[in-house]
Amino acid sequence: MIVALSGVVLLWLFLRTPSRPHNALSDLGQDDTNLDADLGAAAVASSTTHLHHRTVAVADLHGDYAHALNVLHMSGVIDRDSSGGLQALPLWSGSRATLVSTGDIVDRGDDTIPLYRLFSSLRSQAARAGGRVFNCLGNHEMMNALGDWRYVTQGDVNSFGGVDGRKHAISVDGWVGQEWMEHYDVSHSLPLFPLADLEKLQGLPQGYTPPQANFVHGGIHPSWTHGKPTPLADIVATGHSLLNKTLTRQADPYEPLARGRLPPTTTPHEHDIWTAEGPFWYRGYATEADETVACDLATQAAKALHVDFLVMGHTPHFDGFVHRCDPPLIHLIDTGISRAYGGEQSALVFDSELQWHEGDGKWHETVTLIALYRGRRPRIVHTRRRVVE
Ligand SMILES: *[C@@H]1O[C@H](CO)[C@@H](O)[C@H](O)[C@H]1NC(C)=O
Repeated sequence: MIVALSGVVLLWLFLRTPSRPHNALSDLGQDDTNLDADLGAAAVASSTTHLHHRTVAVADLHGDYAHALNVLHMSGVIDRDSSGGLQALPLWSGSRATLVSTGDIVDRGDDTIPLYRLFSSLRSQAARAGGRVFNCLGNHEMMNALGDWRYVTQGDVNSFGGVDGRKHAISVDGWVGQEWMEHYDVSHSLPLFPLADLEKLQGLPQGYTPPQANFVHGGIHPSWTHGKPTPLADIVATGHSLLNKTLTRQADPYEPLARGRLPPTTTPHEHDIWTAEGPFWYRGYATEADETVACDLATQAAKALHVDFLVMGHTPHFDGFVHRCDPPLIHLIDTGISRAYGGEQSALVFDSELQWHEGDGKWHETVTLIALYRGRRPRIVHTRRRVVE
């Protein structure tokens, strides 16, 4: 374990850009060292015999910009210059890495504005560097679109200049509403190697499919995949049409009867996506005590979605991630990052490698899942190795 861990850390140190001075040996020699500063920047090493890609997932940030910066910095996707305060947006340092948020950026804390600005900025910065940023819609994004402001803090309302300013921002004409409509989806399924990078590798067998992970806020129950040729596209389209309707309506947040009600034009299918079994709210993968039942559901969903890993937020476990099934398929990564909860500040990393082996003349694929918790050593959750045939 220690050897493997050191290997990963050394790999990181080896791959990181040389700009930031540090002392690797002293870091490795101490047990409780905060390795945050050393989980370097470079996410990709590419040659004709080797491909490396890093995918970082963060869950519920709930209005806490400072803790969001902590976890993104710890994950090596932003540079840290805290002196600039909220005004200075950090720089993307993730190179070609992929960053995914599973939603619930809003509510419970005051920092709605800096957080959505942050993701917007990182999205364009990452694109220029060859990296990618993906955002999922959480149930709290939808609640705000619906005019359910029960979890909105007074400080957050004030930061928009009051109720009307906030209502406008979270509407089809406002910047938050437009950000959600343009860049936020209910769920994303992502290959753990960018397809463009795979095309550059020579001798990779025809028909090689990279490992894939699905990211969603609540969970995708298999009922959302049954009989659907393209279940993810259906979920995304349904979520978007519902979001569009709710943002257009501009519900009055202080009218209790209107609170959270779906617009009258909502279709039955749009209604279903907002139920307890829908992807915004479903908790079965977290709460189903019977491992066989939970893993059977997860296996059905993963198969229909053509993914190897299911990653979700929504149901907090304050001590750390919960990984279920053997090999681990369900990954519950909401650790209550926000100070509203005071849980672990965490990120899940998929460290994926393709390596050409002279010995057997084959490509070897390795996916290493690493749990990052602020102030703790990175922990390897699972390593999956496959020989590409
Ligand atoms: C949102 O809904 C309106 C109708 O209310 C429609 O004209 C518009 O195209 C929709 N926008 C998107 C992005 O779906």
